[in-house]
Amino acid sequence: MTRREISGNLAWLAGALVAGGERLLAQRSLLERRAPAGMVWLNANENPDGPCERAREAMRRAMPECWRYHYPEFPEIYAAVARSVGLSPEQVLVGAGSSEVLCAAVHAFTSPARPLITPSPSFELPADLASALGRRVVQAPLTDGYLADVERLVREAAQAEGSLVYLCNPNNPTSALLPDERLKRLVERLPPGTVLLVDEAYLDYVEGAEQLSALRYVRAGAPVVVTRTFSKIYGMAGLRVGFACARPDLIRRMRPFRSGVISYVSAQAALAALEEAPRLIPERRARLARLRAELCAWLRERGFDYIEPSANFVMIRVRRDVRALIEALWERGVAVGRPFPPLHDMLRVSIGTAADMARFREAFEQVA
Ligand SMILES: Cc1ncc(COP(=O)(O)O)c(C=O)c1O
Repeated sequence: MTRREISGNLAWLAGALVAGGERLLAQRSLLERRAPAGMVWLNANENPDGPCERAREAMRRAMPECWRYHYPEFPEIYAAVARSVGLSPEQVLVGAGSSEVLCAAVHAFTSPARPLITPSPSFELPADLASALGRRVVQAPLTDGYLADVERLVREAAQAEGSLVYLCNPNNPTSALLPDERLKRLVERLPPGTVLLVDEAYLDYVEGAEQLSALRYVRAGAPVVVTRTFSKIYGMAGLRVGFACARPDLIRRMRPFRSGVISYVSAQAALAALEEAPRLIPERRARLARLRAELCAWLRERGFDYIEPSANFVMIRVRRDVRALIEALWERGVAVGRPFPPLHDMLRVSIGTAADMARFREAFEQVA
């Protein structure tokens, strides 16, 4: 490696540390600490419903077969995933969680000349990877109602003359849904050379998700990539299945940046879950909405404000620096989200089981 390459790499590393520093430290301290027995996990927006029975049965059946890669069967498996969203196989890329396909999009559509443009705060994975690759990352602060600033995103994209714009909808960590007319405005005004990456990890929790999804822009041939995951409403985060939807030319550009086939056992679980989707999604959405509404009503009664939630987590204004509160809740056996600067006085809590939420309320009441 030449001296120039070494100093270039160090600059990338420094960029990555600045961007991901607080998050990496928070994650490391979590890993280094032993969680007390019986910890309630409300820190990662997982779904304690877990895989549906049909998915569990599919995994039991697949288990003895998992000594093979199953390459020949994957085209049909991927085609079934594509059918589930009304697309053809060449419009879909399946990966190990949506993380893998989000990363593939960053690799494919950013470059030294093409920055990543993202609302902030938002899900950090794309921005962290972009800065680790030495790409410029443009952060556009959230605007009124904690929503993405569409005008600013368009302006930054126009200035960049070629970029990847990342939009998480509903957004993590705010749980806020971008109103449909603003999404439409963003897509219609995308400057030439811009690709829009819409992360819909939590959209299944929203009533009317099918109509609100940016998939309609993919179908219309716009330069839009939509990512979906089996980690959230399907309750299968540990199985690592997600996918991206886009025009075939965009999928072809992303494909080299993902590794081989996904886990065969996970693939069988995902197919089984898709067959259950018409029953599973409305049922889980309703259960989540009920528990979330209960929490919000309880918070209101105690005078706590929160961002109107659309996903399986709530961002609560705690009126003080959240760090000590996170610590105090941990001591009481409840793990909540890490701090999300600059929202220093806000606490992100995932919606767990009814029993989990009772434990959260009890601990929160003691310390907040
Ligand atoms: C907004 C968002 N996108 C993507 C992911 C990645 O999920 P997975 O790789 O499990 O699909 C997460 C995980 O929490 C997330 O919050």
